[in-house]
Amino acid sequence: MSERTSESQTTGSTPKAAPKGRKNGLDRGVSAELAENMKQGWGDTERHGLEPIPQAAHTARRRGELSARFPGELLIVPAGNPKVRANDTDYPFRPSSDYAYLTGDQSEDGVLVLTPGADGGHTATAYLRPRSDRENGEFWLDFHGELWDGRRNSLTENEKLLGLPCRDVRMLADALREGAGPIRLLRGYDAGVAAALQDKVTAERDEEFRVALSELRLVKDEFEIAELRFACEATARGFEDVVRVLGTSEATPERTIEGTFFLRARVEGNAVGYSTICAAGPHATIMHWVRNDGEARPGQLLLLDAGVETRTLYTADLTRTVPVDGRFTPLQRRIYDAVYAAQEAGIAAVKPGAAYRDFHDAAQRVLAEHLVAWGLLGDRSVDTVFELGLHRRWTMAGTGHMLGMDVHDCAVARTETYVGGTLEPGMVLTVEPGLYFQAEDLTVPEEYRGIGVRIEDDILVTESGTENLSAGLPRQADEIEAWMARLRA
Ligand code: GLY
Ligand code: MN
Ligand code: MN
Repeated sequence: MSERTSESQTTGSTPKAAPKGRKNGLDRGVSAELAENMKQGWGDTERHGLEPIPQAAHTARRRGELSARFPGELLIVPAGNPKVRANDTDYPFRPSSDYAYLTGDQSEDGVLVLTPGADGGHTATAYLRPRSDRENGEFWLDFHGELWDGRRNSLTENEKLLGLPCRDVRMLADALREGAGPIRLLRGYDAGVAAALQDKVTAERDEEFRVALSELRLVKDEFEIAELRFACEATARGFEDVVRVLGTSEATPERTIEGTFFLRARVEGNAVGYSTICAAGPHATIMHWVRNDGEARPGQLLLLDAGVETRTLYTADLTRTVPVDGRFTPLQRRIYDAVYAAQEAGIAAVKPGAAYRDFHDAAQRVLAEHLVAWGLLGDRSVDTVFELGLHRRWTMAGTGHMLGMDVHDCAVARTETYVGGTLEPGMVLTVEPGLYFQAEDLTVPEEYRGIGVRIEDDILVTESGTENLSAGLPRQADEIEAWMARLRA
């Protein structure tokens, strides 16, 4: 229930009145003749014989797991509403990950409702925007009518595609009014639904619901693993595209690098899974460098952190740090090799049954060893450095995170199920150690200043160990150089 949909959409009943209409500078109002004319002469485009989308084989089980966690409660998971950028222009829409996970649907304003049944289970219903009404002019007069935004699936089509009952979202308010018993809402996505429920839900119970949804996604199913594998493969192709456009004797704008990767993301996937970090030279030491308004010059390193998001909304999250001209300098290589050794140690510590924190500690310990060996921490022992966390001036971030529909996936899971928990087969996480020597850091030798290196891969925990989903991209320094030379030959 968007705050911006036509008035009739928030009344909770099927609209009868004509919407007010889209305003533009040439609008002279709608004559009765034009209104009548626009009702007629349109063909029937209903699609028959549709097959369920591939996710439908999994979404029922996922909803079942949620249902078992909250017996007897009405559960509401909105997709969210379009967000206005300015006037009649919206930002690109992306549904809430929890909604897409439980339905496979990606449409604006959708709401999944799990209604408790007498048997202790739930009945799932997707409340969706139906085809635009032609009779009352909605399809061309409404701000988001199909004449402007394009055809939507009919409710009948969506029932076939999603494999669950679908109803007009304008009937949702009535359904919520009728609902008795405890209710939980995934907050933060649909202000209209939240307003309709404000006296029926509590922040504390809704937060428990949000946490449970996050934890539901910790272990990936077969479909999700295949999507993440594809996301990594497409991302590897995007990195190859970037290497091909990197100039060996002239500067390459970071904007060009960003645009090159984005082209691959749009062609093979839905979009990028997060803002691409194209960080050349000293920009590589800035963890969230997304301005991408500098340039990559021969002699510098380029840190590229990017991920293709698939059309079903799963993202890769990969980083490679490469010498722009194709050859590491001795110092760049020394720092690169330290990060590589740390990543190797981190990946080796990922296994089923291991504590989640183990891979972080293993990688950080290797980085601390190198920093001590290089004399950057005086005469302190590695143990002391590690205990006091002194290496963190240059390692900055944690060594990884869960990955899935969100780049920082399952972020609100409880400590005991995530960072304080144990790795299980089906979990996918990044291992991404780095060293970052800020340009103005006077505590390191001058030649280190302005060098940043991160290597990031996406690791699946299997029954017997791990699979590196991003193994298609080289990691070791010699392999990076050979790969770049091959792509540029
Ligand atoms: N690209 C964000 C991250 O690596 O966590
Ligand atoms: Mn990343
Ligand atoms: Mn990451």
